[in-house]
Amino acid sequence: MTEKDVGEALAIERDVFPSPWTRGMFLQELSNEDSYFIVVREKEKLIGYGGFFMIGEVARLENLAVHPDFRRRGVATKLLRELLATVKANGGDETTLEVRSGNQEAQNLYRKFGFLISGKRPEFYGDNREDALIMSKKIVERVAKD
Ligand SMILES: CC(C)(COP(=O)(O)OP(=O)(O)OC[C@H]1O[C@@H](n2cnc3c(N)ncnc32)[C@H](O)[C@@H]1OP(=O)(O)O)[C@@H](O)C(=O)NCCC(=O)NCCS
Repeated sequence: MTEKDVGEALAIERDVFPSPWTRGMFLQELSNEDSYFIVVREKEKLIGYGGFFMIGEVARLENLAVHPDFRRRGVATKLLRELLATVKANGGDETTLEVRSGNQEAQNLYRKFGFLISGKRPEFYGDNREDALIMSKKIVERVAKD
């Protein structure tokens, strides 16, 4: 993601999240050397984005969204696959995230990638006091056998 992507990402962000990120929040991530944000475009149009930041060896997935007209076509899968590969390439050994307890779509997606529920933050979301589930995935290196 670069600064010129932020306007289109913001339009999706405002459409899909009850407490959307601001332009300033995106720009702050883009200027942070420990953050990594990517976008997916189809025919020039930005249709999805996501990113994480690293704290030591733990990657915290911060944002992931797909334009409502382009869902269920593997866009989030593509984003998450790329993000997790980058976590691994950066030496990360765990990825963690928070998801609304009622957001089954996203939980299904993360479960498909091997994320497990590792905790809960009661009434975490200020807009509706919904609980956050913490989901985590360890990056396991396979040990080659002789
Ligand atoms: C969650 C979200 C990112 C999924 O994007 P997507 O591009 O439609 O996802 P994919 O097509 O890659 O789907 C991958 C898997 O996610 C799950 N999934 C996605 N949409 C789903 C839905 N509507 N119902 C149930 N499971 C769903 C399924 O397990 C799916 O695999 P399958 O198609 O083989 O069943 C998208 O719905 C979105 O942007 N939601 C609003 C923002 C959001 O909640 N972000 C996550 C914040 S933590």
